[in-house]
Formats: sequence, C-alpha cells, structure tokens
Amino acid sequence: MYLLEHSVSAPEKYDEGYNYAVILSGFVDLEQPIRESIPEFGDGIDRLLAAVPLIRENRTDKLILSGGNGSLERGLPGEAQLNADFLIRYMNVPAERIIVENESKNTRNLSRKLRVPVASRPKKAYKITIQNTGDVIEVDPNMPEGKHGLPCSILHITEEMHEDLIDHACGGVQACSTCHIYIVKGFDSCNEASDREEDYLDKARGRKLISRLACCCVPDGSEDIVIEVPKWNVNAVKEGH
Ligand code: FES
Repeated sequence: MYLLEHSVSAPEKYDEGYNYAVILSGFVDLEQPIRESIPEFGDGIDRLLAAVPLIRENRTDKLILSGGNGSLERGLPGEAQLNADFLIRYMNVPAERIIVENESKNTRNLSRKLRVPVASRPKKAYKITIQNTGDVIEVDPNMPEGKHGLPCSILHITEEMHEDLIDHACGGVQACSTCHIYIVKGFDSCNEASDREEDYLDKARGRKLISRLACCCVPDGSEDIVIEVPKWNVNAVKEGH
C-alpha cells in the first residue's frame, strides 16, 4: 500500500508556528470500498502524510481538511471526513486538531469560505464589561496579536483575562458558532458582520439581533462595550472561576 511504502516529511519551509494548514483533497478513490477506515488512496496522499509531522511537531495548531464526495447524493461521507477518520485512527492526530470542510465546490470556493475578513483596530482605548462576571477590561488598541480571532476582536481581548471564558472550537476563524456572544451595549461601534459570520450566526443557538461571533467582532473604541456570553457557551463562569 502506498502509505506504508513512503515516508513523507513535512515541508521544511513551514518551520514556524502556523494556526492552520489546509489539506486539499483529490487523492481518494471514492468509488472503492472503505475497509477499517482506510479508503483507497492514490498519488497525492503525500499531502495528507506531510501534514502529520506538522501537527506532531506543533508547527501548526490545526489541520483543515477539505473535500466533499463529488456526488449529488446527500449523506455520503466526503473525502475530508474519510481523511480525518484515517488520521485520527491510524496516525494518532487528535480529533480536536482537525477541522473538516466538506462543502466547498472547488479550491476557489474553499479559499473564499476560509477567508477571514480583516477589521481595523480600535482607534482609541475603551472598556469591555463582561456581564457574566462583572469584570471590566481596559482595551489597549495596540495590544499584541493573540492566538485566536482577529486582532482586537472580543475573543482576542477576553482571552487575555479569561482564557477559557468563551469557547472557540474552530480556533477563531469563523468556522463554527461556539464563540457566539451578545453585545448588550455598544453594538453599533463594532465592525460589520461578514456574510460568513452571518451564516454561522444563523446556526448559533439563541441568536438575537445583538448576536456576534466573538472571534470576528472588533469594536472601534468609540464607546465602552458590555458583552454577555450565553450560558451554554460559558466555560470559565460555568466552572466557577
Ligand atoms: S471560534 Fe469558531 S467562529 Fe469564532
């Protein structure tokens, strides 16, 4: 089998810490039966294998596996899901470090889906009050970039104080809705939500007119903000921190 005959190392030039590595599909024969979670791999599996050391050596935080099933039939597992199952079962890649993207029709469509719009940093210092805890955060518009979310997004800012306050299953790239929050005060001073954010907000539990995704909501600093984290999204508060 191809997998066992080739050892593939990660590309050397990817030596820095990246948040995501995207693995494009197109190397599984979806017409062939899948045995023991091993699909019929063809040339191109190097892409998948090269991603494994990226994870093991912590050169990237997460893998985004892209690829559907190429069929109009619904309910069939897409290639991305098959590759994810394989990595989890046989390559010991933790499931939480894999994001399956199986809706894009082609590479261009994928890049559009994964694109995270940028937003300007706030023009001046302001305060964010977290209604759940009563904490008040003084926001420095020049704060260094964080690990998750847009620079100076509410997720980025709150993580500085309460690392676990807001859940962020996708790592802050607008690919889930776990960072859903309410902007109780100061909604109009926040950047406009993108179509992509709106799509994920539509999937969020308890969506309201004042809902935003914390990872892409960037206030402009023109007024102080009050946020509320829906109780089903709260990590730290729930645990009594
Ligand atoms: S953390 Fe996934 S969309 Fe914000």
